[in-house]
Amino acid sequence: MAEPLKIALAGLGTVGVGVIRLIEANAALIARRAGRPLQVTVVSARDRNKPRGVDLSGYAWEDDMVILGERDDVDVVVEMVGGSDGPALALARTTIEAGKGLVTANKAMIAHHGLELAAKAEDKHVALKFEAAVAGGIPVIKALREGTAANQIERVYGILNGTCNYILTVMEDSGRDFADVLTEAQAKGYAEADPAFDIEGTDAAHKLSILAAIAFGSKVDFARVETSGITRLRAADIAQAAALGYVIRLIGMADTGGGLFQRVQPHLVHCDHPLAHVDGATNAVVAEGNFSGRLLFQGAGAGDGPTASAVVADLIDIARGELGAAFSVPVSELEDLPPAATGHRLGRAYLRFMVADRPGVLAEITAALRDAGVSIESLIQKGRAGDAEGGGSEVMVAMVTHEGPESAVSEAIRLLDGSASLSEPPLVLHILDN
Ligand code: NAP
Ligand code: HSE
Repeated sequence: MAEPLKIALAGLGTVGVGVIRLIEANAALIARRAGRPLQVTVVSARDRNKPRGVDLSGYAWEDDMVILGERDDVDVVVEMVGGSDGPALALARTTIEAGKGLVTANKAMIAHHGLELAAKAEDKHVALKFEAAVAGGIPVIKALREGTAANQIERVYGILNGTCNYILTVMEDSGRDFADVLTEAQAKGYAEADPAFDIEGTDAAHKLSILAAIAFGSKVDFARVETSGITRLRAADIAQAAALGYVIRLIGMADTGGGLFQRVQPHLVHCDHPLAHVDGATNAVVAEGNFSGRLLFQGAGAGDGPTASAVVADLIDIARGELGAAFSVPVSELEDLPPAATGHRLGRAYLRFMVADRPGVLAEITAALRDAGVSIESLIQKGRAGDAEGGGSEVMVAMVTHEGPESAVSEAIRLLDGSASLSEPPLVLHILDN
């Protein structure tokens, strides 16, 4: 059999250890499929003495991970550290500069510096691969780069963060508190080192910007992803959505109608939509091609095993000599799409107001909606959960609008800005019906 592909592994946390386990467990099968064995030669992390649950005695240890790519016993570096900048980026740069391939699961780094790294990799004729950076174990980057390569992709969207989906579905099933469920998601290894990246929507925005670049052949534009997370959702929103026939999911949505549109936001997803049935840490991506039609990719979006599966698939590609442009086309050919104006987009929305429980408040809200030209399809007013019997001082008013332009809803919210009747800013969620 041919010479092994010699691998340096930086980062021995959830995913790094998963990669070691997978390469050891499936060594013979991988060697057959790759045409040569995958051999981890050297590893690195912050703390050499930390127990990892795997035997590392067969691997060399490198204290300074940044120089891993410069070692003679390394053909390719696997970066499983995380963070958009810092040591991960330094390692990526030195590795490619040294003429070695790089495999990473680091969506933050690719969203911020992917174009620079891809250009450098093209220059050095080495691989830059990041299948595990988007949707964990789902081979969606491969699907978009290869399987749908003949299509114009018109829209790509989906559930891109396992932690948020886990939190939302557990809250949905059990009515448990947000913070409690987040701790559980962290214990299962789904969350980022700083879980704010998950719950504020940033992680999904990183992934969406990468997916959009590959799907549309455009430059990664993370800075322009309109992003909101799940922290403002209340159990009452989830219950209200259920009563209307919807579930709430954090959706990343991108299309090229009138420019590059990229948004990450909790949506009300109709129960008949396939994404409504995506539970737990599962991710799902929908890609709509002009010849393929709607394609749905679904699978585990986080965790050691599924993520390691995607990382090792990249290594197998490199062992086979399958390199290819990181973003499907060379960096110089990626389009610089202008951002789309969103005001004219048509849709229905769920609006939720927390208001003082006194006469005239509902009239004030509906007047603002009327003046902005927003038509209400349904409306419900509920006492806040936990309020003392006999009525608390704050109530929830939730409504669903008829289809209309987003600019009308924005105008209604603007008209209510500063209203003494509102105890917090209104929550606006878009509705995904089909
Ligand atoms: P993790 O469990 O926090 O592990 C990070 C590893 O990097 C640890 O071994 C840590 O060393 C090492 N490290 C961190 N900072 C370092 C530094 N300054 N110098 C040297 N080593 C450092 O993270 P993870 O969950 O495995 O995630 C790794 C990457 O995969 C991230 O980019 C993440 O976004 C991505 N990802 C994760 C998942 C998932 O489900 N967890 C899924 C897809 C992608 P010590 O252990 O010695 O502290
Ligand atoms: N924290 C990420 C998530 C890991 O929950 O989806 C997978 O990218």
